[in-house]
Amino acid sequence: MTRFTGEKIGSVIGETSPTQVLFIVEDNNARPRLGEYVVVDYGESYSGRERYVLGMIEYISSGNPLAPESLNNPEAIDRLRLYDETYSRTYMRGSARLLSYVSTLVDGNPYVETPKTPPPPFSIVYRAGKGLLEKIFSSRKPGWIRIGVLASHPDVAYHVNVNYIVQRHLAILAVTGAGKSNTVALLVSRIVGELNGTVLIFDMHSEYVNSDLGVKTNIIEPFLNPLYMDKPEFIQLLRIPSNAWKQEYVLRKALDEFQDKMRDSGFNKQGDFIEVLKEHVKRLSGGDLESAKRGVENRIEDFKERYGHILRYDIGSDLVQIIKPGYLNIVDLGSVDEDTADVIVHHYLRRLYYERRRFVRTDGSEGYPVPVFIVLEEAHILVPRSGNTLSKYWVSRIAREGRKFGLGLCLVSQRPKAVDENALSQTNNKIILRLVEPSDLRYVQSASEYLSDELLRILPGLNIGEAVVLGLMTPLPAIVRIDKCRGKSGGRDIDVVNEWRKSVERQARGYEEVLRDSLDLAGL
Ligand SMILES: Nc1ncnc2c1ncn2[C@@H]1O[C@H](COP(=O)(O)OP(=O)(O)OP(=O)(O)O)[C@@H](O)[C@H]1O
Ligand SMILES: [Mg+2]
Repeated sequence: MTRFTGEKIGSVIGETSPTQVLFIVEDNNARPRLGEYVVVDYGESYSGRERYVLGMIEYISSGNPLAPESLNNPEAIDRLRLYDETYSRTYMRGSARLLSYVSTLVDGNPYVETPKTPPPPFSIVYRAGKGLLEKIFSSRKPGWIRIGVLASHPDVAYHVNVNYIVQRHLAILAVTGAGKSNTVALLVSRIVGELNGTVLIFDMHSEYVNSDLGVKTNIIEPFLNPLYMDKPEFIQLLRIPSNAWKQEYVLRKALDEFQDKMRDSGFNKQGDFIEVLKEHVKRLSGGDLESAKRGVENRIEDFKERYGHILRYDIGSDLVQIIKPGYLNIVDLGSVDEDTADVIVHHYLRRLYYERRRFVRTDGSEGYPVPVFIVLEEAHILVPRSGNTLSKYWVSRIAREGRKFGLGLCLVSQRPKAVDENALSQTNNKIILRLVEPSDLRYVQSASEYLSDELLRILPGLNIGEAVVLGLMTPLPAIVRIDKCRGKSGGRDIDVVNEWRKSVERQARGYEEVLRDSLDLAGL
């Protein structure tokens, strides 16, 4: 035993390979568990560097030769149960994926070096020691934050590398209610609280707005200043169909004539923008445009009624005033419909992208001054696999190029197979909580570099808050029990039965009060 190994579990049997070993458990009381880390000792004939290899248990089974599958006589079972010897023949076997030489993990943490030779049969399999696991997973280096503990070693804290999360993006995927939003809340509160990071969450259900995560928070109301909206945003909010190219032409031309001038002259009168836009549409010349002009005018009227309330002129051009550096910035989209949410997400992603690019290209003299971690809840709505949204273009662009400009993306979804595959496969890091549907599982695996068949099989059996964590942000793939985030209140399951009971009580109280009032009136 070395300082990095715990108790002995068993020995390697069967034919082995450098990536996978089968082992038999020698002491059933050792009870190895799925997801647990083991150290395989290749033996004294191997050099120090190659002697110990870390693996993860990915499969475990138990059996007894006296209870074969073909056994079909219940009386025999009763008799067999009576003999002690029967129990002594119960065995347990497992398979472990070999991940890295222990010495490389210890010296070059988080550097991983996969073994090149298979362990010889009878190699001893040890439980990985706490000291080794802490060295690998509980890094205290700057830029690492804790998000939970190892599920099979709850005494070992589990940390992730935030630089890699932002540089290589992240997807958080799971069935509904498995703990995605809790994971987001935890991550962002620690990124802002411990690292002074800047985070921007698009909050589709006002769930973060109503939580108190204990960090500097800035709520961004879902308002837009039309002076800074671009043409695709107008086209979507005016609901100009994609085949109505004449209407689109009219709108573009009208905006060209006055939007820039108005912005530069410091226009700030509420409401006038829409009137001025209408005027410019009316004034456009061109005989064949008459019906398109009338169409656009009607759409402007409709737009005014529907979206007038989200237009605000006092929102300035300076993005720093809107998305505050060092804050948890939450765009509250709970009260707007999906089309509007799409326009708002598009608006901020577009502006952030250009501003960060400007910052990098001007060596920091202009543009948005700090990197931003952007969280998109309901990614299947904003970045769908089939169909188009305005946000999809910018999400894909940031997924591809964000690294150069310090923009990190976090896509969150309970319907992974409905998320655009390009965007999803650009997220190198994945936190996958419980996921059940076979087509979701297959899709996620096709978009994940590091998700083995064995880890995939673990996903349907995870409990709430348990996750498989993959990607550059973690030194090794891990099964993690995510911490519960204090202060996260939104998104909690509603106690339906209790709500119904309270409603009946309220009604009953209402009747009593009415009855009392009428009795009072009648002087009884
Ligand atoms: N790590 C955890 N430890 C303990 N409880 C948790 C954990 N994660 C989530 N929960 C609980 O599970 C419930 C659902 O969590 P959460 O809202 O994060 O799920 P979700 O995956 O975001 O669901 P949805 O798909 O509906 O958005 C909450 O009541 C939360 O308190
Ligand atoms: Mg959620």
